[in-house]
Order: sequence, then structure tokens, then C-alpha cells
Amino acid sequence: MSATQITVLGLETSCDETAAAIVRLTPDSGRASGLRGDIISNVVLSQIDVHAPYGGVVPELAARAHIDHLDRMVAEALAKAGCKLQDMDAIAATAGPGLIGGVLIGLTMGKALALASGAPFYGINHLEGHALTARLTHNVAFPYLLLLVSGGHCQLCRVDGVGDYTLVGTTRDDAVGEAFDKAAKLLGLGYPGGPEIEARAERGDAYRFALPRPLIGQNDSGCDFSFSGLKTALRQRAIELQPIGETDICDLAAGFQAAIADCLVDRCRIAINDFDMSASDGGRLVVAGGVAANQYLRQALDEVTRAAGFSLTVPPPALCTDNGAMIAWAGAERLHAGNTPDSALAAPARARWPLSDDAFKSA
Ligand code: KG4
Ligand code: ZN
Repeated sequence: MSATQITVLGLETSCDETAAAIVRLTPDSGRASGLRGDIISNVVLSQIDVHAPYGGVVPELAARAHIDHLDRMVAEALAKAGCKLQDMDAIAATAGPGLIGGVLIGLTMGKALALASGAPFYGINHLEGHALTARLTHNVAFPYLLLLVSGGHCQLCRVDGVGDYTLVGTTRDDAVGEAFDKAAKLLGLGYPGGPEIEARAERGDAYRFALPRPLIGQNDSGCDFSFSGLKTALRQRAIELQPIGETDICDLAAGFQAAIADCLVDRCRIAINDFDMSASDGGRLVVAGGVAANQYLRQALDEVTRAAGFSLTVPPPALCTDNGAMIAWAGAERLHAGNTPDSALAAPARARWPLSDDAFKSA
């Protein structure tokens, strides 16, 4: 489409972050992706303190917090960027999947801003935001494999272009971040559980307890994931150890994290082998989602990609967790690709919305 710059305001409210950002896309034939991405402003308000006492996100509280803060986050994003609403080439907001109350709040705000300013509107699939972030941060060209690991999602998919995603594997039960959060809760640790487990695991002995690696070696499992058996085994060990001490907790955390790493590595190895692209052709694995902040997992994924001669790309932690920049960027990519904007009056909010759904194109 246009060879000119595209500036987009993006809103994210699908879980427990209230976020707004402004990004700019500049066509640049000198780069692998053909684009340059700049984050002009990016403000994120985490609701961790609101949900921590409950050990997980409480949907009603999340929605109320989005209502309380979204106005201010949008004003802050515009002020920090030194922009006015009228300067935006498009407005983008998460339209799903996610907690429906929060999605409705951000989506309605995005539509209202688009109607008020006359800018085109894009209702973005939150997973697409995660999927395209590495093009904003690392200028990555299509195609690539994506491992999306967050509190609500755990999937491997192939990314061939804007709106062109193929699911390769998904979780059969818990998302991997959810597994970390539940494991932390049952070990008496705080929320979110991932960083708590990672910190304990650094001091623990991963070999003290033999924990299961669900689906590994099971021929018919493809690239799917499963974590509920691992969680049950952890609970069983914790019960046997009562009263549980600090060393036990650290050893269990280390064993749990190592088991998760083995599962992710095994599934990625299969997906890389099946990917019809060699390392020399630019074969690449991109990791996204909050769990990508885990250094131990990152190291393990680095080893498996290196062994296959693939590259590993992990956006910085602040852009792996939920943020408005990834939604603004997905909107900018859609506008740049010539995608028809969504109706600012009719685009639906969706609690469930698979990334590779055909409904995508008509959303
Ligand atoms: O992407 P995200 O911010 O939110 C969504 O779920 O969409 O991911 C949050 C998840 C939580 O489950 C949290 O425990 C996990 O990411 N997480 C981690 C780490 N940091 C955050 N899991 C493992 N290790 C970490 N260091
Ligand atoms: Zn997310």
C-alpha cells in the first residue's frame, strides 16, 4: 500500500494490563521485513496488586480497573508522544480473545476514538499482536515459527504473513503461565507465579524429584502440550513432604521448571524439524508471551534452536507481556497490508478467537 509512514494508537485491555501506545511504521526496503517500527509511546498499568490477594486474575475486578484507568492511559500515551488524536492514521484495539468485560471496555473506547477522529478502526486479535511483535522489535521477515507462552495461551504456530497463521500445536489443558501460577500457589508462593518459581529454582536441585514430562515420546501428540499431569505430580510431592521447608520448595520449583523446559524444547524441536525452511534460508523461532521472560527457558530454547541452526528471537520482556504497542503495531501492519478496516460500529468482541480462525479475514 502506501509508501508513507503510518502512525497508530493501540489499546489493550483483554486481561490484567490497561495499556495504550502509539507506534509508527515506516516502509524501509533496506530491512528484512521491509518495514521499520518505532514505539513513540507505550504506557502500561499492571493490575497485579489488585489480583495478587486472590492468586489469579478476577475478571470483574479487572474490568472495573480498566474503566477507571483507560481514559488516563490514552491521554498519557498521546501526551508522551506529543501527538493529537487527529494525527493518528488508524486506531486499533484488542477485540479478543480474553476476559470479555475488559475486551468490551477497550474495544468500545477504540471505536469511540475512531468515530470521533474519523480514523479507520482495526479490532485486533490479541494473539496476532503477540505474533507480530518481533517484526516491530527485530525487523523479522516472514515466515517464522512462533511459540506463544503466556498466562492464557500456549501454542506453536507458523506465521506466513499478516493474517496468515497456521496452528502447529496447542495445550490440551493449562497454558504454561497458568501452570506456573498454579504451581506457585500450591507451594505457597506469590502471584504471578512464574517469577516466583524462577527465583526459587535458581537455588534448587532440579534432579531431586523425578517429575513427569507429559506427551514427550507419545507419537500421536504432534506438537501439543499438556501440563496438568505435571501439576498433579508436583502437588503429590508437596503433600508427601509436609511440613514443607524452603529447600523442598526450591527443589520442587527447580524440578518443575526443568520439566516445563523439557516439554517446550521437545515440542519446538519437532516443529523446527517439520518447518520447510532450513537455517540458511532464515529459519527462525520467535518466542512471545509473559513466560518468555524466564531466563532458564530461554537458555533451553536457545540451545534447541542453535542445534537446528535456527535463529531465536525473543522481544524484550516489556513487549513479551501484554502491552498496547503490539496492538498498535498489528493495526499498522494491517493498514500497510491494505486490509479493509473493521466497522467502528459493528466489530464484535470475542471471548474466544483462535489465531488461525478463518473468521479472521471477515472480522
Ligand atoms: O503475557 P502475559 O503478561 O499475560 C497473559 O497471560 O496474556 O503473561 C503472564 C504470565 C503469568 O502466568 C506469569 O506467571 C508468566 O507469564 N511469567 C513467567 C515469568 N514471568 C511471567 N513464567 C515463568 N517465568 C517467568 N519469569
Ligand atoms: Zn497476552
